[in-house]
Amino acid sequence: MSLTGKWGCTLNLPDEVCSAPHLAVITGAAGGLGAALAADLDAQGWATIRLDVRLPDDDPGNGYAQPTVFLPLDVREDAELAQLGERLRRPRERFLVVAAAGVISAGLAENLSVAEWRRVVEVNLTGTFVTLRSMIAAAKVADTGRLLAISSDAGKTGEAWLSHYSASKFGVIGLVQSLALELVEHGVTVNAICPSIVDTPMMDQLARQMADATGEADVEEWRRRFVAEVPSGRACLPGDVTSVVTFLASEGAGFLTGQSLNVAGGHEMH
Ligand SMILES: NC(=O)c1ccc[n+]([C@@H]2O[C@H](COP(=O)([O-])OP(=O)(O)OC[C@H]3O[C@@H](n4cnc5c(N)ncnc54)[C@H](O)[C@@H]3O)[C@@H](O)[C@H]2O)c1
Repeated sequence: MSLTGKWGCTLNLPDEVCSAPHLAVITGAAGGLGAALAADLDAQGWATIRLDVRLPDDDPGNGYAQPTVFLPLDVREDAELAQLGERLRRPRERFLVVAAAGVISAGLAENLSVAEWRRVVEVNLTGTFVTLRSMIAAAKVADTGRLLAISSDAGKTGEAWLSHYSASKFGVIGLVQSLALELVEHGVTVNAICPSIVDTPMMDQLARQMADATGEADVEEWRRRFVAEVPSGRACLPGDVTSVVTFLASEGAGFLTGQSLNVAGGHEMH
């Protein structure tokens, strides 16, 4: 079976990856949180399938400890994801999916175009649905099946300038809770992680857009303001999130499902 990637190329999926006893699929893995997570899982002995709509920041296949493959796929591509999920549907010890692909933009709802609303909701919410749904069968046949989605603290409490982003991340939590109930009898857990502001390219983009849109402070000042909102006094680091993913992926977390865990330095508490 061949998969066709974003640029029309046929994607190679080596058998040593497909049949790995510990296999993780991570979306949004070309950079930011997804790339950091993939690297941590690689170091822990997981084979990884890294998906992104763009090419990775680092050189895929170079210097990785475990078998890995990078697939240029858009998480909105239902047919491609379904094909991938079918290919991965085989018994193994541990199967982990982390839906981390996401987009953001800053805009007051009053001025936000419906097109921009749809773009953000389609990637963040529909893309998470497409990703998790496509991997359900593969998770069911693994001894330990774990589905995770990266929501946000903006998925717990609304934020000005981010109505579309916040709505998409609230939606991810509803999706995760519903899937958790549907899959609990199959021993598959489904959870969300809600980070506060994370020091990634997404944070830079948001600071830049807020500086341009408001004109009241420069990019550095916006970064400082984001961090100042966090009681711990610093931005969330990718490692703060990956350590929680490691726990949720472990056998010991088998009774924990349908949860949305704040990794937010005290910024979000419900
Ligand atoms: N950075 C933050 O402050 C922050 C806070 C809370 C939650 N999050 C969430 O964490 C996740 C990771 O964000 P990040 O900070 O690493 O952002 P990032 O922009 O650094 O990385 C996101 C990745 O997703 C990819 N992507 C975008 N659209 C895609 C698509 N349609 N298909 C496949 N890949 C796509 C991008 O190419 C990029 O590599 C996102 O879901 C984001 O909403 C981020």
